[in-house]
Amino acid sequence: MTVTIVGSQLGDEGKGGVVDLYGDAADVVARYQGGDNAGHTVVHDGEKYKLSLVPSGAVRGKIGVLGNGCVVNPETLFDEIDTLRDRGLDPDVRVAERAHVILPYHRALDGIEEEEKEDLAAGTTKRGIGPTYEDKAGRRGVRVGDLLDPDTLRERLEYVVPQKKALAEEVFDKETGEAFDVDHLYDTYREYGERLAEEEMTVDCGTFLQERIDAGENVMLEGAQGTSLDIDHGVYPYVTSSNPTAGGATVGTGLGPTVVGDGEVIGIVKAYLSRVGTGPLPTELGGVEEQTPDYDADEGADADEEELATYIRDEGGEYGTVTGRPRRVGWLDMPMLRHAARANGFTGLAVNHIDVLAGLDEVKVGHSYEFDGEEIFTMPPTTEQWGRCEATFKTFEGWPDVDWAAVAEDGYEAIPENARTYLEYVSDELDAPVYAVGVGPGRGETVVVENPYE
Ligand code: IMP
Repeated sequence: MTVTIVGSQLGDEGKGGVVDLYGDAADVVARYQGGDNAGHTVVHDGEKYKLSLVPSGAVRGKIGVLGNGCVVNPETLFDEIDTLRDRGLDPDVRVAERAHVILPYHRALDGIEEEEKEDLAAGTTKRGIGPTYEDKAGRRGVRVGDLLDPDTLRERLEYVVPQKKALAEEVFDKETGEAFDVDHLYDTYREYGERLAEEEMTVDCGTFLQERIDAGENVMLEGAQGTSLDIDHGVYPYVTSSNPTAGGATVGTGLGPTVVGDGEVIGIVKAYLSRVGTGPLPTELGGVEEQTPDYDADEGADADEEELATYIRDEGGEYGTVTGRPRRVGWLDMPMLRHAARANGFTGLAVNHIDVLAGLDEVKVGHSYEFDGEEIFTMPPTTEQWGRCEATFKTFEGWPDVDWAAVAEDGYEAIPENARTYLEYVSDELDAPVYAVGVGPGRGETVVVENPYE
């Protein structure tokens, strides 16, 4: 069977921990979208591993697959595999031949276009994700399978690279170097192709996964980013360029929708909201310069709110893993979650980070929005409309800070009562049971109510 893990908010919901936890029972962990814009830390045998492309299950001896819906930077892929090997592991990673390749000009153009966009910039990770998906949709991309076939690779590069070079030089007035040089790219990427072939890493993803399922194995489909960053269902244009929602799990792997629908779809919910990047955020607390629209650091927001935002940010470690820049934080946004529950068809929820909110006198949630004088319960379709929404809050009594490791051991009933009231509200509103509750950052600090593979 399959278990699909989907972020229900704006990324960074703690999906990695849940993948890690439930992944124990999986034989194969496959990613279905995104590329090295994701970031997860896995702790295994006391060692910390930081990965952005290789599925975390590969650290634990599972087969890790990058599905056809992913965009693959071979440089990152081999760096991560080599680092794992240097540290004594033997990761088994397979890559879909239909997946698209991130080339150096994609990265360069991601940076150049973000600079040009000003107010429309999504604050991308500058890994070339958007430009690679653009070329995929424009039918001028290079696929992993093309790296194994030098003539096709050459033909593709000769067609596309002059266009990219002209775009950078003539439209954006930038200098270009070897990232835009056909011969250099051909030599480098043919070598990557040779290595992929030598290590027998490429697969026909859908066939590979279906054979595993038919043999009775467990497959986990690991989404990156989150529903509100989905190119179709998110807060366009402040989104990533792929489909993190559950539909992406079928298109991005080649498994049929009935196969994915026969399994479980688990929505990962952070008990509050965090956001890297720009765009509206109706339940935001305080603000972060250069990310919160119209935020003036000198004026700031309400002083109590700023203090609360800083508290949650510090307790939750809400700072970018690579850049260290502060993330925007806010209360839980229920219209956002109702939208996610519908778009993904969640069969269960994992709610993370309830320990971060412990010790507050009260905890709020944005229960509904006031939108042009009306109360609405889900997100409106355009981001401009979303920007006009004002959250109507519901207040819960706070819960104490306790020995969370002991709670994880003792089970759901050991969670402080007010926190359980909060969890039950979320579960009722989304009409999906709570399968797991994250009570701390460590691998063992999760209360498991239900294991979807059992
Ligand atoms: P891109 O995916 O690099 O094109 O970035 C597009 C938007 O998605 C930006 O707002 C990023 O901050 C956001 N984003 C991309 N990956 C992640 C992630 O793994 N966690 C949180 N936000 C992300």
